[in-house]
Amino acid sequence: MKFSVLTLFPEMYSTFCGTSIVKHAIERGITEIECINIRDFSNNKFRHIDDTPYGGGAGMLMQVEPIDKAIASVRQENSYVVLMSPKAKPYKQADARRLMNKEHIVIICGHYEGLDYRAEELIDEKISIGDYVLSGGEVASMVVMDSIIRLQKGVIRDESLDEESFDNALLEYPQFTKPAEYKGRRVPEILLGGNHAKIRLWRKKMALYETLKYRKDLLRGRKFSEEEIRLLHQLKKELEEGKDPLYTYEV
Ligand code: ADE
Repeated sequence: MKFSVLTLFPEMYSTFCGTSIVKHAIERGITEIECINIRDFSNNKFRHIDDTPYGGGAGMLMQVEPIDKAIASVRQENSYVVLMSPKAKPYKQADARRLMNKEHIVIICGHYEGLDYRAEELIDEKISIGDYVLSGGEVASMVVMDSIIRLQKGVIRDESLDEESFDNALLEYPQFTKPAEYKGRRVPEILLGGNHAKIRLWRKKMALYETLKYRKDLLRGRKFSEEEIRLLHQLKKELEEGKDPLYTYEV
């Protein structure tokens, strides 16, 4: 799939495109990222692309013409145009899954106090990465591209994606690597043995526990399997008995 990023700061993308998973996806031809400088479509010799708002008020607005022209310069038949903006519902993993199937995503990075409203009418969707205001859409666009690129086939192992937080509405269980003991803190015994059925249940229990601790809201309205209900009861018992669920597992 291809991304065309319309930005005032194309240089911000060189590290993003040249590092780690995104770099590999580009090298293997799974993803293409082109960065277009919106200033190239300015209608004046100063390369300005912003102006003061009609009706008064603080700040400057990005003008519609350079944005319209920049979009036209990259638009294909299958293009899906998004605007990075704090004025939208916060982005979720489900949005990454929905957008991963688009062939061409054009991302407009907003700046200043926003865009001329007529530019907003040129887009298919606005995306916010959270309820806070960034100085521009660039960092947000990298968040969105990263989340989509790593879902593309062949970028990372399918099994890694299967167990991830959010997709099944539970946070990921705790993971450990060598050494088995560090400053007296042991890796839970259950992970050192080879009983995969028990390990799977322990991980499910811990995923429920992590979600209860940090993101109870994700559990609201969720349908629990019989196994999950049993694990929740077990968790409750362990906590009531003052045990640390990390180190406890009873069948
Ligand atoms: N531009 C400024 N703030 C933003 C946000 N929270 N998400 C996306 N784009 C933005």
